Amino acid sequence: MLGEHHPRQPSSCFIALFYEICLHPTILVRLSTSRSRDIVEAAMGQRGQATSGMSVQARYHEPVMVDTVLHFLQPQDRGRYVDATVGTGGHARAILDASAPSGQLLGLDLDPQALALARERLASYGDRVTLVRSSYTHLTDVLRAQGWLTSGVDGVLADLGLSSLQLDTPERGFSFREDGPLDMRFDPEGDGPTAADLVNTLPEKALADLLWRYGEERRARAIARAIVRHRPIHTTHELAQIVARVTRGAPGRHPATRTFQALRIAVNRELENLERFLPQALDALRPGGRLVIIAFHSLEDRIVKHTFRAWARGCECPPPPLPCDCADAHPRVRILKPFPAWPSDDEVARNPRARSARVRAVEKLAPEEA
Ligand SMILES: C[S@@+](CC[C@H](N)C(=O)[O-])C[C@H]1O[C@@H](n2cnc3c(N)ncnc32)[C@H](O)[C@@H]1O
Repeated sequence: MLGEHHPRQPSSCFIALFYEICLHPTILVRLSTSRSRDIVEAAMGQRGQATSGMSVQARYHEPVMVDTVLHFLQPQDRGRYVDATVGTGGHARAILDASAPSGQLLGLDLDPQALALARERLASYGDRVTLVRSSYTHLTDVLRAQGWLTSGVDGVLADLGLSSLQLDTPERGFSFREDGPLDMRFDPEGDGPTAADLVNTLPEKALADLLWRYGEERRARAIARAIVRHRPIHTTHELAQIVARVTRGAPGRHPATRTFQALRIAVNRELENLERFLPQALDALRPGGRLVIIAFHSLEDRIVKHTFRAWARGCECPPPPLPCDCADAHPRVRILKPFPAWPSDDEVARNPRARSARVRAVEKLAPEEA
């Protein structure tokens, strides 16, 4: 039930990403040094401790907007479904129940801990489930290996961002509430840079650009300056305290919320990965198949919205004042709801982490409908 499709992405891709953000050639040299890695290792004993013997405080992640996801996905008996971010299997279980007795589910995740829990949780569904450790950016390859590429699938779900399991495990370094190493990688065994690598090596301007671009943090420059002044920074609490001395943040939010979001998005290349995933998901669908995306912030939701609209037009207009000639366009999808669906007040009261969730969904059109 648990497969492995885990091609290592060359670290040069990360370097290229930050080169693009920062427009600063020194990063090429800086990120290739092991200095900040040494800092994290010194702080935590040794590299690897972050995953072995980790205290998994939260176990199953509570899935958000399950009824809405099922409403859009419409799982059917004998259908084939992909959960591109299976996490600890909450949505997967709902899809399997709704497609009983013989619907099949292929679940992907980068996080080996989440997959282990999903495997345990979904064991009773037997061979209706296949779990693969992979990034959803390799969806086409995973489908090929599964033998599902040619026939296509009936539905794809992606529930973006991080799980409670990750947020509530201090050693993963996602939370400013608990102290832990500044890691933030969805794949803690991957060889990409950690958040500590970024805060301890990026030039000040590059850090400020990162915080502005991925956190929409208005105090980005002041925070970047403070970070550089306090280097080396080893832990989540150290970073949170440095940020809190510079900004009060939005009312009701911890001052470091945007800084942590920005670093997490950068470490995991979340926006770039989403852009790579969406066309593969559309190609994977059979006509009538549905793609459902749960986003948690406007940066990723904007990508989903614009992509869905371009597919629905069947044509990408150039930015004004260039003329848009979409006369011969062939729409590829039907947007199932013009605006995103939000969680109910009851759900947010029950599960406060659902409060920023929003769902968008499309249905793939048959070529003759287009
Ligand atoms: C919000 S959680 C999903 C929770 C899941 N729906 C459930 O019910 O338990 C998001 C998951 O996406 C995973 N993830 C993030 N980026 C990924 C990527 N590029 N490829 C595959 N999984 C990814 C994370 O490791 C995390 O487990």
